[in-house]
Amino acid sequence: MIVVVTPTHPDDWFTVAAESAPDTPTLMVSGQRTLANVRRVAQATARAGKRLRPHTKTHKMLELARWQLDNGAAGLQVAKLGEAEVMLDSGTPDLLVAYPIVGAAKMPRLNSLAARTRLTVSLDSLVVAEGISRALDPDNGIEVLIEVDTGLSRLGVMPEQAAELAAAVAGLPGLAVAGVLTHEGQVGTQLQIGGLLEDLVSAAVAKMAVAVAGLRRIGISEPMVSMGSTPSWRQLLDHDEVSEVRPGLYVFHDMNSVRAGSATLAEVAAVVAATVVSVSRARHEFVIDAGSKSIGNEPRVLGELTSYGYLPDADAHVVRVSEEHGVVAASQTLPAVGDRLVVVPNHVCPVVNLHDAATVMQEDGTQTEWRVAARGLSR
Ligand SMILES: Cc1ncc(COP(=O)(O)O)c(C=O)c1O
Repeated sequence: MIVVVTPTHPDDWFTVAAESAPDTPTLMVSGQRTLANVRRVAQATARAGKRLRPHTKTHKMLELARWQLDNGAAGLQVAKLGEAEVMLDSGTPDLLVAYPIVGAAKMPRLNSLAARTRLTVSLDSLVVAEGISRALDPDNGIEVLIEVDTGLSRLGVMPEQAAELAAAVAGLPGLAVAGVLTHEGQVGTQLQIGGLLEDLVSAAVAKMAVAVAGLRRIGISEPMVSMGSTPSWRQLLDHDEVSEVRPGLYVFHDMNSVRAGSATLAEVAAVVAATVVSVSRARHEFVIDAGSKSIGNEPRVLGELTSYGYLPDADAHVVRVSEEHGVVAASQTLPAVGDRLVVVPNHVCPVVNLHDAATVMQEDGTQTEWRVAARGLSR
């Protein structure tokens, strides 16, 4: 089943963001909505007695990382060392690099991070652990989370294999096995095609429980169980087995979030403001100055329609993109050249990575600029 969202206009932030963008295309962020999103997750996680270690790959901004820490995040997560090097300046007491670190060029940087903060890495093979252990300065220690595949089929060992890998890693100098980690990203994908949230989350937790039982058998009595995605964080709090949640997208949300039922349009806090640069009466289409270099290039097939982003004020979709052009199929009256609109991206994380900075609109109407400080740092 394909869920086609035809949302009603939630309030006027989208209009205000379009009108007050300093120029276009611009990544516009609602400070108010972002802070509400940050606090909602932090408060619920604290109430449930779990740790929150948000993934900062969505925003890559130090100011927002500090908001997350100030509101109760126990630490931060990144994918890459370059992001970790930036996020250290947030003052985080704890950093998780949730990515297998491979290659000699990375080892001095890993050592220097380990010397400066409590560092955890996730991995799914002994060869990765051996590479890290061999390169680690004797003064440095790193915690390891064994990555388990709970259904995404990306990284991770099968739940039954976690104990064997944990035992081998625990024997390596400098490394301490802290527990198990998964990213149950399949939950969001399945929700968009009609899956049931509770069933999907329970299935992922059950797989983690198998891995945990294995770790206990080898003497790791209190393993950390780290799980996380935006569609699943709330349900994970109901599971005693889970110790930590790691959502990322929740700070901004996007059309993926809306289609998965994880957010409403009223919670979407980052959009791309664009200007209409051409109107075609013949095709009943118009062109905005935001193409794949501003709104990304992740199409979603919605029945008959392929959407590259949703324009809430026009209730219309970008149906084709080239680098600097977004072609919008008008659903209502055509706008005029010069009109401004915002695009809610399908997937906001890579979109943020396309922009040097975001214009953040604060509650009092003022605007500040936040640099996407970890932009492009994929090494
Ligand atoms: C390893 C890992 N953890 C956590 C997350 C956060 O998930 P979400 O983007 O759904 O919030 C991701 C997202 O890609 C991830 O790859």
